[in-house]
Amino acid sequence: MNKFELLSHDDIAAVLRIEQAANSYPWTEAAFISSFADSYFSYKLLDNAGNILGFYIAQLILEQLELFNICVAPTEQGKGYGHTLMQHFLKEGAARGATDVFLEVRSSNLSAIALYKRYGFTQTGLRKGYYVSSAGKEDALLMSCIL
Ligand SMILES: CC(C)(COP(=O)(O)OP(=O)(O)OC[C@H]1O[C@@H](n2cnc3c(N)ncnc32)[C@H](O)[C@@H]1OP(=O)(O)O)[C@@H](O)C(=O)NCCC(=O)NCCS
Repeated sequence: MNKFELLSHDDIAAVLRIEQAANSYPWTEAAFISSFADSYFSYKLLDNAGNILGFYIAQLILEQLELFNICVAPTEQGKGYGHTLMQHFLKEGAARGATDVFLEVRSSNLSAIALYKRYGFTQTGLRKGYYVSSAGKEDALLMSCIL
């Protein structure tokens, strides 16, 4: 039975390994460390043996919820864990009082964009050339939904 637990500082090395394996431009260790501030909540999804399948990092300020990171270990992708993480994120955010949800995603990240659309996110903005990419720069799509 898979279960969710809050991420802790002790998980940083493990989530950094997953992040680096899953992303061409991964978060740094410093970014993970700074995401333990008060306004953040972050969860890991565990398998039966206690291994981390994936995680998400969110920030809630008043009613505004932002998804900063969501990641599934590459060997575990395509098995529905992205859905599991999104459902937990949205339910947990709503329980904590969020009404509006925001995120940013690389315009080339079609699997993540498809996932977000499945949960009612629509594009509400564009930051041209926001991310470094192999082609030089790529756009960030700003997406949001109402809970
Ligand atoms: C995006 C990510 C979290 C999805 O996790 P996942 O466990 O592979 O996703 P799931 O198996 O639960 O599939 C969820 C949905 O994602 C989309 N999706 C997943 N893989 C896809 C692919 N190869 N192509 C297109 N859409 C895809 C689909 O909409 C899918 O839903 P459906 O199959 O029911 O239509 C995962 O690919 C990941 O960790 N990527 C690297 C990190 C990343 O890019 N994070 C987002 C940063 S903004």
